[in-house]
Amino acid sequence: MTITGVDGPVTYNPYAYEMHEDPYPTYARLRSEAPVYRSDEFDFWALSRHEDVIGAFRNVDAYSNAYGVSLDPSAFGPDAHRMMSFLALDPPKHTRMRSLVGKGFTPTKVNAMEERIREITLQHLEPALESGSFDFIADFAGKVPMDVISELVGVPVADRAELRRLADLVLHRDDGVYDVPPEGMEAALTLVVYYQAMVDERRASRRDDLTSALLDAEIDGDKLTDEEIVAFLFLMVVAGNETTTKLLGNAWYWGWRHPDERAKPFDDASRVPNWVEETLRYDTSSQMLLRMTRQPLHLHGTSIPEGDRVLLLVGSANRDEAVFPDPERYDLDRDTKALVSFGSGRHFCMGAPLARLEARIALTELVARVATYDVDPAGVERVHSINVRGLAALPTTVTLR
Ligand code: HEM
Repeated sequence: MTITGVDGPVTYNPYAYEMHEDPYPTYARLRSEAPVYRSDEFDFWALSRHEDVIGAFRNVDAYSNAYGVSLDPSAFGPDAHRMMSFLALDPPKHTRMRSLVGKGFTPTKVNAMEERIREITLQHLEPALESGSFDFIADFAGKVPMDVISELVGVPVADRAELRRLADLVLHRDDGVYDVPPEGMEAALTLVVYYQAMVDERRASRRDDLTSALLDAEIDGDKLTDEEIVAFLFLMVVAGNETTTKLLGNAWYWGWRHPDERAKPFDDASRVPNWVEETLRYDTSSQMLLRMTRQPLHLHGTSIPEGDRVLLLVGSANRDEAVFPDPERYDLDRDTKALVSFGSGRHFCMGAPLARLEARIALTELVARVATYDVDPAGVERVHSINVRGLAALPTTVTLR
């Protein structure tokens, strides 16, 4: 297929640094010129329109998670579920495990965490604000989510800094490195050993935490194995940590870039949820998810064979003009209900209520204390990752209320 535009055929390379700087002009061209894009170089198809992305998320018969959801070579393949748990499984295995985990990871459990999340937030926020000038990511947004996950699953306070260090190693990629580096692999193993020891301890004596609840979760006599519990605890680190850090950083950054929009939550804290939702839509931290086709597909006149890789471009779906009027505008007054940032259908993000709660608490505590803030543009650094979009450094100065 030849696609001609003013600049020649559109090309999309998720590894290119220009794409990390600003993928949105390319997404707009993909949506209009190549809604079923083919990359021979990296061996994938890409869907960019809202209706196609949502359609693929909801069609588990045609699109499989069984090889994982990432292009990262070490995370891709039939063993992906060992690290990514049920995110990398299809029904009926997925249904079984998600239902069992859902017995422990309940909305009541998440809501009950509100006060502890606030305490964890303030523990990191207060010293940063006192200094007047800090790195929003390293000193604040990078610390809260992992401590919240540790709190949820039952990691003792004394071990949390070390777990945060290990999680950072698992997720960190130096520029130009597109796979899990050896230090990351080693840290992942250490985390798995740690979580296994925690499961053993809880088996001997239960506590009021998610790990204990998962040990007791049961449907018709079926229970989770230790291996399954550990893989799920590990998935939470991978799926719930960096994404939430980046959501906080993106809200702070885009708020800074749009003073009129930022003024809304700063003048009226009840607008903080709009700040969170519009940031999720406008610049989501999880830009794309991979699928494998389970059958030959025909879409917009293009045939995709069975067993091929398809990228669902969530970041593009969230900017689709067919669904969001004036999509390139960061607008806290818009209707964001159709955002796709947490996926859709059977794999819909299990941590979405927790991520939203964390972001609302963190930003509410910030607007309660900060009158104005500024960012040093020279110090802003972007992460170079194919699917995680956000900032690695965000130097900030604050004037307190
Ligand atoms: C802003 C923060 C977050 C974003 C943008 C996000 C995004 C997503 C997306 C797009 C999926 C669907 C993946 C797919 O269909 O292939 C997903 C799945 C998942 N997320 Fe999140 N997530 C966030 C935070 C969290 C948190 C805090 C947790 C847990 C503590 C979490 C746990 C999970 C789990 C367990 C799944 C797998 C669900 C399944 O396969 O059935 N996420 N997330």
